[in-house]
Amino acid sequence: MLGHLSPQTPDKIMALMQAYAADPRTDKIDLGVGVFRDAAGHTPVMRAVKAAEERLWQIQETKTYTTLAGDPAFLSALSDLVLGQESPAERRAAIATPGGTGAVRMGLELARLANPGTRIFVPDPSWPNHAAIIGFLGLERVDYRYYDARARSLDTGGMLVDLERAGPGDVVLLHGCCHNPTGADLTAADWRAVAELLTKTGALAMVDIAYQGFGDGVQTDATGLRILVTALPELIVATSCSKNFGIYRERTGAVFVLGETTKSRDMAQSNLTMLNRQTYAFPPDHGARVVTEILNDADLRACWQAELDGMRLHMQRQRQALADTLREMSGSDRFAHLGAEKGMFSLVGANPEQVERMRAEHGLYMIGDGRINLAGLSLDRVPRVAEAMLAAGL
Ligand code: LMR
Repeated sequence: MLGHLSPQTPDKIMALMQAYAADPRTDKIDLGVGVFRDAAGHTPVMRAVKAAEERLWQIQETKTYTTLAGDPAFLSALSDLVLGQESPAERRAAIATPGGTGAVRMGLELARLANPGTRIFVPDPSWPNHAAIIGFLGLERVDYRYYDARARSLDTGGMLVDLERAGPGDVVLLHGCCHNPTGADLTAADWRAVAELLTKTGALAMVDIAYQGFGDGVQTDATGLRILVTALPELIVATSCSKNFGIYRERTGAVFVLGETTKSRDMAQSNLTMLNRQTYAFPPDHGARVVTEILNDADLRACWQAELDGMRLHMQRQRQALADTLREMSGSDRFAHLGAEKGMFSLVGANPEQVERMRAEHGLYMIGDGRINLAGLSLDRVPRVAEAMLAAGL
């Protein structure tokens, strides 16, 4: 029977990780997978995480099962961080999930349970795993205009026109901040326009927010999401602690759902809990408990906040350095967007052949669509990266 299996197309981000690891060149540069790196190229365990783990080791007396939805204290603390303290608790359903991918999967599973014929409107471009999960679930994907690759900027007008086509029973997927792969984020005014449009059309918003704190700050990055929380009767939110707490392998994330009424909240909770149960029963707990310790303790939280701000500023410096160096070397402003965009990622405007050339000739690894992870740079390597980009004809 197993002979009937056919090979799966590897995820392009994961395939690039493997190709990088297999490359024997010592001066190779990894601008691929979305993992934070410090100036020395390391992905450190954050100090607040270490301290919270030590504390847990001292106080934790059992590792018996928690609830199917996950630890309530975690969900409450994370909800305050993501949705804001003002979000209506009586309308909120929640489950902990294995990371942001688990959250996206469970959010989409919930949408499918609510409407098996739902269409998922996805920004063009988007994180490749969005399309992969939507396809695997047998749901119809509709791409909407988001980024104008020629102009290297948002296409808000095109987006709003395309989203007019999403109606009741459809889902509109939005990136909460630090859009992956473009780094081009909606302004608060754009979010208000989206909220107004969704109110008119009745489509359900699903916000994937995996990089809160990597753009303009942990609260500012949630501005758009909170506009939707206030404006819309229903909402799905998929969130991740992988990046902003640096606990990638602990698999820590959550789905929050706002129902229109307490009754619809209860219905969403019942379905989300069932999804956890039949997929993996109990979600991972260690990372969730670390996050809870940090968020609920003033000292640990201040330490985490300072470190996260440091990571954000580090990425912004690399962005600016690359944009400035490219301006000097090319004598043109065509890379200015790299300095202005938010978070880890930007598109450099390379086609797959140019990406391949940079990899083969310069050991420079980026995703095939020209996405770079700015955290993978270091200031001393900026000139080399800029040179490789220009030599490839960018
Ligand atoms: C990325 O986009 O590189 C990260 O979100 C890692 C992943 O799982 O793809």
